[in-house]
Amino acid sequence: MGDHLDRRREEEILEAEQQVYPPPEHITASANVSPEDYERFRQQGTEDPVSFWEDRAHEMVDWFEPWEKVLDDSNPPFYRWFVGARTNIAYNAVDRHLETWRRNKLALIWEGEPGDTRTFSYYRLCREVNRFANILKGMGVQRGDRVTIYMGRIPELVFAMLACAKIGAVHSVVYGGFSVEALAERIEDAQSRVLITADGAWLRGKIVRLKDIADEAVKRSPVVETMIVVKRTGQEVYMETGRDFWLHELQQLPIASGYCETEVMDAEDPLFILYTSGTTGKPKGVLHTHGGYQVGIATTLKWAFDIKEEDRWWCAADPGWITGHSYIVYGPLILGATSFMYEGAPNYPYPDRWWRLIEHYGITILYTAPTAIRGLMRFGDAWPNRRDLSSLRLLGTVGEPINPEAWRWYYRVIGKERCPIIDTWWQTETGNFMITPLPVTPLKPGSATFPFPGIIADVVDEEGNSCGPDEDGYLVIKHPWPAMLRTIYGDPDRYVEQYWSKFREQGWYLAGDSARKDKDGYFWIIGRIDDVIKVSGYRLGTAEVESALVSHPAVAEAAVIGVPDELKGNVIYAYCILREGAGAGPDIEEELKQHVRHEMGPIAVPARIEIVDRLPKTRSGKIMRRVLRARAMGLPEGDLSTLAD
Ligand code: WTA
Repeated sequence: MGDHLDRRREEEILEAEQQVYPPPEHITASANVSPEDYERFRQQGTEDPVSFWEDRAHEMVDWFEPWEKVLDDSNPPFYRWFVGARTNIAYNAVDRHLETWRRNKLALIWEGEPGDTRTFSYYRLCREVNRFANILKGMGVQRGDRVTIYMGRIPELVFAMLACAKIGAVHSVVYGGFSVEALAERIEDAQSRVLITADGAWLRGKIVRLKDIADEAVKRSPVVETMIVVKRTGQEVYMETGRDFWLHELQQLPIASGYCETEVMDAEDPLFILYTSGTTGKPKGVLHTHGGYQVGIATTLKWAFDIKEEDRWWCAADPGWITGHSYIVYGPLILGATSFMYEGAPNYPYPDRWWRLIEHYGITILYTAPTAIRGLMRFGDAWPNRRDLSSLRLLGTVGEPINPEAWRWYYRVIGKERCPIIDTWWQTETGNFMITPLPVTPLKPGSATFPFPGIIADVVDEEGNSCGPDEDGYLVIKHPWPAMLRTIYGDPDRYVEQYWSKFREQGWYLAGDSARKDKDGYFWIIGRIDDVIKVSGYRLGTAEVESALVSHPAVAEAAVIGVPDELKGNVIYAYCILREGAGAGPDIEEELKQHVRHEMGPIAVPARIEIVDRLPKTRSGKIMRRVLRARAMGLPEGDLSTLAD
């Protein structure tokens, strides 16, 4: 613990701890959860989390059949929530709104990067989802089958996810910024026979050729029998007869009718797999279910972001990550909210694209990542100042610790000191916000403040004792919660090992982050304690990048580390040992970067690649990343006594 490399964060925290931003009066007066209710819920959630979540399950969603038991903890850590209940998340997100005035309310407003727009009422959304669901059924997709979805940020991505949920299929969305090997590996692990993709996606005025990447991935993972392709960018693409089908052509067929029965699912039936990076080996398929997940995301979104009927909510994440799953797709729709989605880059064609969107669509809540805030801050205040941002009432951040400087800029220049900043700490595995302020919480810049009601979080030392004020320790969750992951798809042992073995006796969930609490009980996240690197808020594993590097014929061995970066939070440095006689050219570093881009995607490309003769290793052969990091940052290398040579 207390990695000396995180000294900068330490200094930031000590300074920011002293600053408190009380919630504005106009927010407190109308918040979904008043300060008094908040206290009451926190108390109930601490004393009896099970009854707390049961109340929310009644309040937030509809059930076809009630549960027999709220929490089954007879076989930890394989917890089950709302045992015996019947539901379908698609029913709560779509179908049920058609029985109310919301059938005519906008569910989704979308703008493409080139400036084209599309809007969908709940009624129209339902039709789109039903048609897609019928097409999937027509392609032979059945309950429990896995469907991989690989697309840009377009409405069809949302329809495809909901269509899977509706018919009881399990979706596995792969972020559109990933490339061949990342996609192939995820298809393979999930054994998806159907892949939904698009011809391309727009990014900074250029076409990302998704279909070409999909074709190459499917060559490596030939389990895919059917590809459904959305026409988005319009360039010529290869279509394999009998395997590949255009969505718009399928939609003309009689099978694509506008009505589709919603499958009755068990609360514990799987809803989706989302791959995420862990400490070792290949990415893990985090599995979430229909029941508890929807209770968790609806409650957290409604309370933390104070969602009201008249809001226009914009979560600027990508649906390919958990933030998009929970808070672009399912959460807002369950609440019957109006969501905005934008396809492209924040600074295209000019650095004010986001601010124009807020002005044009009257966005009331913006939820984004520190890296985006820092990126836009770089262009100066004039760009946002030229736009009318007065519709905003709340701001949010997620993905990595936000440095107080970026926090203050966001607060002052974007929020005009009227909008609380909701800094939400959570993970793919947790499903929903875990540590977050509510709009009524007094804020400290860079702190995610307090655990959400019903979540028992703590910072503990090696033995499991609670740490004192300002003492660094392991962030743990001490009681199960409804939206928690249920397992790692196909690898229950890894689920136990990864999250539950460190504090096995106590039965606590290990988050993989270091954190501290200050004297007022505010939580401060410091960073990952494992080999996960957060690059621009994207979660990557050193192992994944290393295996992409060694898949190049010239590379014998590779070690990858994360190094702090002003803009991106962290960047990747890679150290490679070349194979003798591999005939590496003079531009080998550049060639390796291209190789990683092709295999993994642009986000995984190392900022720097260094060719070395040896790597620092322990006598048992483990790479000492700590030493590499220290060297990269010009810091003392610490204890080298375990170094092999
Ligand atoms: C980090 C993203 C500080 C953390 C939702 C966590 C954060 C990892 C915050 C999960 C935050 C997320 N402050 N750090 N507000 N939010 N993190 O699975 O290290 O992509 O463990 O989920 O992001 O990343 P993931």
